[in-house]
Amino acid sequence: MKQIAKSLALQEHAKARIPGLAQLLSKRPDRFSYGVWPGYSSAAKGATVWDMDGNRYLDMSIGGIGATVLGYQDPDVDAAVLAAIGRGVASSLNCPEEVELADLLCELHPWAEMVRFCRGGGEGMAIAVRIARAATGREKLAFCGYHGWHDWYLAANLGTENALGEHLISGLDPAGVPRSLAGTAFPFSYNDEAGLRAIIAEHGRDLAAIVMEPIRSAQPAPGFLQTVRELADACGAVLVIDEVSAGFRLNCGGAHLELGLVPDLAVFSKALGNGYPIAAIIGRGNVMEAAQRSFISSTNWTERVGPSAALAMIRKFRAKDVHRHLVAIGEAVQAGWRRLGEKHGLRLAIGGIPPLSHFSFELEEPLSAKAYYIQSMLDQGILASTSFYSMYAHAMDDVEFYLAASDAAFAEIARLAAEGGLGRALRGEPAASGFKRLS
Ligand SMILES: Cc1ncc(COP(=O)(O)O)c(C=O)c1O
Repeated sequence: MKQIAKSLALQEHAKARIPGLAQLLSKRPDRFSYGVWPGYSSAAKGATVWDMDGNRYLDMSIGGIGATVLGYQDPDVDAAVLAAIGRGVASSLNCPEEVELADLLCELHPWAEMVRFCRGGGEGMAIAVRIARAATGREKLAFCGYHGWHDWYLAANLGTENALGEHLISGLDPAGVPRSLAGTAFPFSYNDEAGLRAIIAEHGRDLAAIVMEPIRSAQPAPGFLQTVRELADACGAVLVIDEVSAGFRLNCGGAHLELGLVPDLAVFSKALGNGYPIAAIIGRGNVMEAAQRSFISSTNWTERVGPSAALAMIRKFRAKDVHRHLVAIGEAVQAGWRRLGEKHGLRLAIGGIPPLSHFSFELEEPLSAKAYYIQSMLDQGILASTSFYSMYAHAMDDVEFYLAASDAAFAEIARLAAEGGLGRALRGEPAASGFKRLS
């Protein structure tokens, strides 16, 4: 059992000072197990993380929630960033690296002709939606999946029970989003052609964009993505593909390339900067030109670190075929979960593309089982949860060590679940799910 007194004291302090404790829901300790999860890192390198109390962990969890695709402190990306700092990060002029990065992104995605940059995924999606609205002169949106915290997206939950409930995070409260945006954004489920057709039948003439991830939890049904493309063309909507999480996992660039889908706009962030803030909106020239008619502009979008990190990340990704490693590691983890679930008689629902894998316990108390798994893995020196995002820094030896530890954790979970004693075995709280106030 790890001593994490300093980490816990800092969490208590932060709760009083920072509403909701953290800037990102997915890094809130209650998402794992409040009272057990260390919450803060004092340092991170490769696939290793140190907490505030000096404990060291192999990180087999959310890999910087998908941002650090190469690993922590990647030497090549960090060297490029340090060189950028050496040239001055901000000045009264623009950084030329962004032009080089725009060229490189268009080279990787030959359908795209123009690029804008910002620094966050949700922000990039908000820009893409603004461009689509400006380009079409229309307001309504059909979307599938999670795309960030901005008003255009949360508007879907205005005046409905929980329209976003099926889209990665349930219970997202639109408090503070203007009520006048009700009826502007309509969700459909991935692979649900009929659902999308129904939205188009009602709103097709007012539809500015169809917004979706190319792939996430499930494989696309045969013909689904082509149908989406055709439906967008038929109703004159811009097709916006969100590559914030899927990009740079299955191939060097957007997953849409692998899937044979040609969008009008695509948005990247997360992996693009290997943890340094950068996001790119790439698109067809005729659509992107609308960004000249809508005011989209910000001081910190001009700094040098983000584009420098992205250039170094892409070059390394391409040179080392990083996606092959990400997929192999993710496949080994998914296969391990499957094998261990069967071995211990635990029913698991496993999903996600291999580099962004997840499972849930199909038990009476799934969130206590998750918390117990996290607790047991921490005790064994591993940061783990029910999601696993692979990084280039993960080695097959790490996977073996992780699966041996999971074997022990699953054995205990099966025993405790059979006795009805999971809740009592927790030192922290059961994992939270969905969006809730942190109390
Ligand atoms: C598909 C997708 N779009 C958008 C976002 C939002 O990105 P960010 O957290 O960088 O604002 C995320 C984040 O998880 C995501 O997975």
